[in-house]
Amino acid sequence: MESIVIQQPNNLWIEQRPLPLPEPGEVRIKVKIAGICGSDSHIYRGHNPFAQYPRVIGHEFYGIIDAVGDGVRNKSPGERVVVDPVISCGVCYPCTVGKPNVCTSLTVLGVHRDGGFSEYVTVPESNVYCIPDSVSDRQAVMVEPFTIAANVTGQVAPTKNDIALIYGAGPMGLTTVQVLKGVYQVKTVIVVDRINARLAMAKACGADETMNNTRRPLAQYLAEKGIRPTLIIDAACHPAILTEAIDLASPAARIVIMGFSSAPSQIIQQGITGKELTIFSSRLNAHKFPVVIEWMQKKLIDPEKLITQQFDYRQVIDAITLFETDQQRCCKVLLSFSV
Ligand code: NAI
Ligand code: MN
Ligand code: ZN
Repeated sequence: MESIVIQQPNNLWIEQRPLPLPEPGEVRIKVKIAGICGSDSHIYRGHNPFAQYPRVIGHEFYGIIDAVGDGVRNKSPGERVVVDPVISCGVCYPCTVGKPNVCTSLTVLGVHRDGGFSEYVTVPESNVYCIPDSVSDRQAVMVEPFTIAANVTGQVAPTKNDIALIYGAGPMGLTTVQVLKGVYQVKTVIVVDRINARLAMAKACGADETMNNTRRPLAQYLAEKGIRPTLIIDAACHPAILTEAIDLASPAARIVIMGFSSAPSQIIQQGITGKELTIFSSRLNAHKFPVVIEWMQKKLIDPEKLITQQFDYRQVIDAITLFETDQQRCCKVLLSFSV
């Protein structure tokens, strides 16, 4: 089989590897489509501190089970499936309080263990979720990115009366817009970004208002409209955004951060306590695959609106390069394996 391997930072090649045999409790999947994520690019470029090399990247993928290991009871060859990349122990403190996404021995497919940019991949049966017939292949490959939005929104119990502000109209911001509008029917969702093409995608995903903060400060825009957001989600993740979000938030608002910057954010206690704000963080997803598959089945979200390109996997370098360099044209870029 062929696998996309990052040998060392900035050194990607397609390697011939022997077809892996599923271990006990594992299934083997023939990958059909995979999605490129910012974190794949970070591993490729050597910007992910958790990555070990050589590594087969890819944690967003859809395929068909083609073999099962000993002891696999609930999955069979021929089933259409997606895979939760979060592999957890089930017994540590975070696992026992429902946060396997921050398991003390967390393993993430495509980061700590070989992932899905490969013609075949073996994964634990317990991470595999079947896809109903009503969900297409291209929708299925988008389950994982939507689980991030499910996790983010799951922290804050959005209501119809919320006025939500989302920073960033990349894949993370756009999945969050769709979930806030389609699932939670939040009254007002405002999206801020620096790229007009992405703000247009935010509108298509259901945003009520969009704002380009390149030249005009967001604070001024909101003040003119008399808007104080009750829910703020930072899907752009510059460290300065938390400072601004605390300032702009309504009293009693909730803020969710999801960035991994190691640079400090300047925050003032009074700004938080004076309004009794609640600040959440969100990492990966905690058992959100079934939730998102149900949303897709009920057509509450529309993943096709995020997909901008699809390449053959042999063109992976072109695909990742375009993804990295052209945020005007690219949002979610897919790789086709077998079709
Ligand atoms: P992306 O780079 O495609 O999108 C970010 C968007 O934010 C861009 O459109 C950019 O123009 C905009 N932006 C940047 N600075 C801004 C500012 N000051 N004001 C307004 N807009 C601004 O990235 P993607 O894939 O959507 O991911 C977003 C962030 O979420 C990344 O930082 C990524 O590391 C993080 N992330 C976190 C996850 C988690 O589980 N916590 C999972 C996936 C991504
Ligand atoms: Mn991803
Ligand atoms: Zn654990």
